[in-house]
Amino acid sequence: MSVLPSYQQNKQTITFAFPTPIQLTVISPAIIRVFIDRGESGQSYAIEGDKTVTTDFQVKDAGDHYTIQTAALSVNLDADQHIDVFDKNGNALITDYRGPREHLKGVDKVHKRLVEAEGHSVTQAPTKSDKGYYEIIKSLSPDEYIYGLGDKTGYLNKRGFAYDNWNVDNPAPQLEILPNIYKSIPVMLGLKNGHPYGIFFDNTYQSHLDMGKESDHYYFYSAVQGNLDYYIIGGTTLKDVVTNYTYLTGRTPLPQKWTLGYQQSRWGYSASEEEVKAIADNLEKYDLPCDAIHFDVDYMNGYRVFTWDKDKYNGNPKKFITKLQKRGLKVIPIIDPGVKQDPDYHIYAEGLKKGYFVKAANGDVYINKVWPGKSAFPDFGRPEVRKWWANNGKFLTDLGVAGIWIDMNEPATFEGPIPDDTVFSDQNTPSTHKKMHNVYGHNMAKATYTGLKEQTGNRPFVITRAAYAGTQKYSTVWTGDNRSMWPHIQMMIPQLCNLGLSGFSFTGTDIGGFASDTTPELLTRWIEAAIFSPLLRNHAALGTRQQEPWAFGEPTLSIYRKYLKLRYRFIPYLYDLFAKESQSGLPIMRPVVLNDDQDPRVRDLNDEYMVGDNILVAPVVQKSQIKRLVYLPAGNWVDFWNGAEYAGKQDIVVDAPIDKLPLFIRQNTILPWGPAVSHISDAALHAMTFRVYGNQGTYQHYQDNGRDFKYQDGEWNNYTISVEHGKASVKLTHHGYQPVYQQVTVELADHAVTFNYDADHESYVEK
Ligand code: GLC
Repeated sequence: MSVLPSYQQNKQTITFAFPTPIQLTVISPAIIRVFIDRGESGQSYAIEGDKTVTTDFQVKDAGDHYTIQTAALSVNLDADQHIDVFDKNGNALITDYRGPREHLKGVDKVHKRLVEAEGHSVTQAPTKSDKGYYEIIKSLSPDEYIYGLGDKTGYLNKRGFAYDNWNVDNPAPQLEILPNIYKSIPVMLGLKNGHPYGIFFDNTYQSHLDMGKESDHYYFYSAVQGNLDYYIIGGTTLKDVVTNYTYLTGRTPLPQKWTLGYQQSRWGYSASEEEVKAIADNLEKYDLPCDAIHFDVDYMNGYRVFTWDKDKYNGNPKKFITKLQKRGLKVIPIIDPGVKQDPDYHIYAEGLKKGYFVKAANGDVYINKVWPGKSAFPDFGRPEVRKWWANNGKFLTDLGVAGIWIDMNEPATFEGPIPDDTVFSDQNTPSTHKKMHNVYGHNMAKATYTGLKEQTGNRPFVITRAAYAGTQKYSTVWTGDNRSMWPHIQMMIPQLCNLGLSGFSFTGTDIGGFASDTTPELLTRWIEAAIFSPLLRNHAALGTRQQEPWAFGEPTLSIYRKYLKLRYRFIPYLYDLFAKESQSGLPIMRPVVLNDDQDPRVRDLNDEYMVGDNILVAPVVQKSQIKRLVYLPAGNWVDFWNGAEYAGKQDIVVDAPIDKLPLFIRQNTILPWGPAVSHISDAALHAMTFRVYGNQGTYQHYQDNGRDFKYQDGEWNNYTISVEHGKASVKLTHHGYQPVYQQVTVELADHAVTFNYDADHESYVEK
């Protein structure tokens, strides 16, 4: 038996004197950091600033182990360096695995060649060839579910699958077999025998998460290099775990309200003013609410970022952007990181002169191919380069764009991968591609956010494809190049739900599917299924079948319109959820298990989701299906369409013809019901309606100017709407924003009550 080493305590960090010391830091009662210095310098990209909260805790010597105990967690560390974590009631959450490894069976060389001859690959355990390699192996209980992991493909419960953390632009269909796509968000949430926990592995190097594929007895994290640096996250509920995790890595800030509107996109539109104008005309002609049109790479001059091809825009893109704005449509251009290698191009010339591009190991500027052909890559790890990039955005904001869509920032390259030793900076220190790859998109997003904020004063709207843990503070995300196929509409639900559990609340998919050709049925089901996804954008690839709402005529157009109109009614509710999310980190679109983690039925539910606590969405995501089996969680539920009431904790079958999205509201929920509009205007609303599903309830509604940062100085209002014994009341509970609603209507089951604002008493009086 080994002997317990001594330890030293410095404030909330306890260092145990093993040959390689282990540090445990109490960040807060429910967050404990485990750290082993393996020679890596630099700061975290995910966690900004010191998150340590002064916390009472004890370090006890129990003879064969130490225990560090806070109000929420206790962590045991024994002489063999095993770390075991328990909740405050002594339930095991995370325990080091002590049994034998059960490596996947290898295949001999001859058979491996045979399998590969047909084009299949042989499953390999992650490479250990790297000298910096390490593993962390934890026990799995028979009753254990694993969630999160960012944008991985597949199902809600990650148990039994293995994934990589290395941002890639892989054109293969994003089916459940892919180990990694564009983002690396190494946070996992677990329910062990019903007890929630989280682990965040803060290491930007390539890493691997085997969630019980190798063996049903353990899961493991391995990384090719880097410090061993992970955070144990506790909580009484899964919700607490998300709140604690987002306390650590940050929350999606309150967005501009219009960003919750519908957005229309297609690779190819922006090749001419006429084409974009035709899109705007059709949106109006067909009475389709919309707030933004996205401009893909074609608007640029030969794919040169921060240029606009005037010839395609009748000599004056600004004039056209202004015209679109007047029609209620914002413009979101795409920006890629690759800067065309062209000495006559000002961005390239300046970047070259100032040494802003990443360099090959031999000191030359590193060049690879992307859309513009040979391109250089900005060294976003450096603050000065981020500043430069942010300032370059002024070209776009001066033209009047309302946000920036950033893409290809894994970074993607067309001529082979970037060598590991390419010199990328880690802040101001030369580092490697190997270390900085996974935060390339993160740093680009941060630069873009900062520029938009400075130049417009508005809450920045950025959409990124690549991300790392913590990018949620700077950008919304979409899931990249999905395809027009049923497995991808199915996957949208668990994928966006897991992103939500991983701190990313503002997410969406390319509605209708990006690559391949959509069908009227798939497009219809997709707009229904996605109607509550925070980012609501229809986008498709060049050369695929058109998939605008009108592309297939009737009945697709009318159904699409019906759901867009419905979405706009829910904008105030979604905005309220964002106001709450910015405080709690709880996602808008979430798996049922987040609201109800003690119901085993919802722990692997992949075809339903919830919007906040009280809306249950059960979309049809199977071809030709016209009825749906819906599991209703605990509580009582009201069918949104016909008011039918159901008790929870049962399966029901509902009709779901092509124009119906099965939708249920928890009984006794009050929902704000926005006006029927075609665009979310910057003008303040003077009236609001609330719908009551049931005969009692209370609801907090948030209001501000929906645009800038004045809310941070108290310029916001809060209303409490209550209904008791069928009687409604309205109260202004925080008043910091002008104007307040002059009229509030509460729609009860059988009648509506209208209240007028009495400015003298700052109160609402029933009419
Ligand atoms: C990438 C993006 C896609 C975009 C295309 C052209 O594939 O993921 O959304 O349309 O590049 O810019």
